[in-house]
Amino acid sequence: MAETETQEVTLDEIVALCRRRGFIFPASEIYGGFANTYDYGHYGVLLKNNVKAEWWRSMLQERDDIVAIDSAIIQHPRVWEASGHLEGFTDPLVQCLGKCKRRWREDDLREAQQTGELKCPECGGDLTEPRRFNLMFETHMGPVPDDAAKAYLRPETAQGIFINFKNVLQFARKAPPFGIAQIGKSFRNEITPGSFIFRTREFEQMEMEFFVPPGEAPGWHRRWIEERMRWYVDLGLRPDRLRLREHGPEELSHYSEATSDIEYLFPIGWSELEGIANRGEFDLNQHARFSGEKLEYFDQEKGEAYVPHVVEPAAGVDRSLLAFMVDAYDTEEVEGRTRTLLRLHPRMAPVKVAVLPLVSKAGMPERARVVYEELRSRIPAEYDEGGSIGRRYRRQDEIGTPWGVTVDGQTMEDDTVTLRDRDSLEQVRVAIDGLGDELAARLERPWSSPKPG
Ligand code: GAP
Repeated sequence: MAETETQEVTLDEIVALCRRRGFIFPASEIYGGFANTYDYGHYGVLLKNNVKAEWWRSMLQERDDIVAIDSAIIQHPRVWEASGHLEGFTDPLVQCLGKCKRRWREDDLREAQQTGELKCPECGGDLTEPRRFNLMFETHMGPVPDDAAKAYLRPETAQGIFINFKNVLQFARKAPPFGIAQIGKSFRNEITPGSFIFRTREFEQMEMEFFVPPGEAPGWHRRWIEERMRWYVDLGLRPDRLRLREHGPEELSHYSEATSDIEYLFPIGWSELEGIANRGEFDLNQHARFSGEKLEYFDQEKGEAYVPHVVEPAAGVDRSLLAFMVDAYDTEEVEGRTRTLLRLHPRMAPVKVAVLPLVSKAGMPERARVVYEELRSRIPAEYDEGGSIGRRYRRQDEIGTPWGVTVDGQTMEDDTVTLRDRDSLEQVRVAIDGLGDELAARLERPWSSPKPG
């Protein structure tokens, strides 16, 4: 796909659907909104839970060399000294000296303007000299807001893993190569948040630190790049919307020996979805130096201790969710009407099956409710009897429900229902007895997007 190509769906269409169907809305809306912050509604929560559940499944359930952790958001301030964040987690900030006085990231402007003296993209004004701006959010522990009480909201979940290396080694009975995985909120005082949930100041990360014998790091780095790319494709992202980009030496973070980004073709163009870094021994060495604790693994067989190297796949929950929505969004003409739908992988879909009585009479709602209550104990199901059947299907299509079960007149005679497929619109008649098994089997089948690449 050409570099300049963009998605067929716009960010505005995604934002509108998210709002219309209650996935995501602007936070603090009754106070006029608040600086690119967002709240997740019911279907947004369900979809986000599925993103996280699939990540945990791939990290914990489908292998036995990774354990979980949930560390504190506010850690000892020395953590951020050791990690290099206090010193180096900065962006170059410039401010417009002209009319608008807006602040920009100098590196973004340089990328966009390429040559000549940089000017404010908003009003064309001159800009200040760049100054380093630290992205960490400051807070205070306890009642006195002085320097001694200063603390930080974590800008990445990774450090909570490194500082627990010794605890995990002791209790998890693991030896390198092994990993520690964490999902949780991170905070960055981004200069230019934007593009909906793509870049916000409060977001969730899914990070795994994989500790390996030093010589094995480059090989594991390659394996984790493949694993993580496969995860997105297996969950339905179209492979030609994904690509790998290796960081050049000038772009590498202070801790990284090598980093490759998995990029997705978002409506704003190709952008980072996940970074996979070989962090070497940087973090364990730093925390050993600052804390005075030995952070090593003792190899019994060789009779020697070593500092493991770390390979880190670091993904964003919100950014992944956005990619899954963008990839799934589709519209098509059906019998003269435009149908909007989310062709989500069934495992990603917030609701797997909707149970709908054809009409609200003749015993159909009661029968449908029984079918729904049987199904919901096995898979996420929704019951809906409000409005015409066409309107209810359109609603389910827009939230990405892969299957619809309709209870109609025939159901009352022979205990069968129609089972509608969201993508093909095919409807088949199936017996209520065995419906749960059929849907559970469908949920486990491999799936790929029916949208053309
Ligand atoms: N521990 C390494 C690390 O944090 P990163 O590339 O800065 O690496 C990892 O972040 C992932 O977290 C990104 O690929 C992205 O998906 C997500 N992420 C980072 N900053 C974000 C932001 N401001 N808003 C939303 N997601 C963000």
